[in-house]
Amino acid sequence: MKTMLNVALPKGRLGEKVLDIFEKAGYDCPAIHEQNRKLIFENEAVGVRYFWVKPSDVSIYVERGAADIGVAGKDILLEYEPDVYELYDLDIGKCRMAVAACKGFRDNTERTLRVATKFPNIAGNYYAKKGRDIDIVKLNGSIEIAPVLKMTDVIVDIVETGTTLRENNLEPIETIVPISARLIANKVSYKFKHKEITSLERKIEQLCSELRKEG
Ligand code: PRP
Repeated sequence: MKTMLNVALPKGRLGEKVLDIFEKAGYDCPAIHEQNRKLIFENEAVGVRYFWVKPSDVSIYVERGAADIGVAGKDILLEYEPDVYELYDLDIGKCRMAVAACKGFRDNTERTLRVATKFPNIAGNYYAKKGRDIDIVKLNGSIEIAPVLKMTDVIVDIVETGTTLRENNLEPIETIVPISARLIANKVSYKFKHKEITSLERKIEQLCSELRKEG
């Protein structure tokens, strides 16, 4: 029987792109295109089993070995620091982690900076390196509202097109780190399914470099 690779895919727009890449690389799965609410799909012929999970949960499935591999944003990897191998930068889902504030904001360094974010670890590390005292307000979404309502001075959040910031009269003031989607692997699976994982990795790398050449 063929060894199956369990793959955690991030639900949503990024996941659709990732699935497209995997399928073009030879890991197609007709069942996943049927219209239903199932979350697990497999194609035994090519040795792949996909499951859709929340993007922020991909690294949990991979770290615990429920998935052998997965694709997660660098933001999630920096925030949760899961004990997984980061194999490859897929160069999609590109955006940046940034500090943003209301237009005209001036930082008063004598006061504790109030920071709203979904990423307390990234924000904490960033300001710790700068030696800046902060008070983190952890939110789960719609972060942009916090400074508008004067609940915080700044936000630390993902900026992709910048539209959300602009439309809420905010502006980016510092870039913390560029973000993109990464292929990750469970450490034990990487040892015991080494042949399957490295072969997949090679095919994905090759396809991505061809796609890059095509522009
Ligand atoms: C993300 C992020 C910003 C927005 C940035 O939110 O938190 O709000 O996208 O994209 P833009 O620069 O292209 O406008 P998401 O859509 O994940 O929703 P959220 O409010 O739940 O964080």
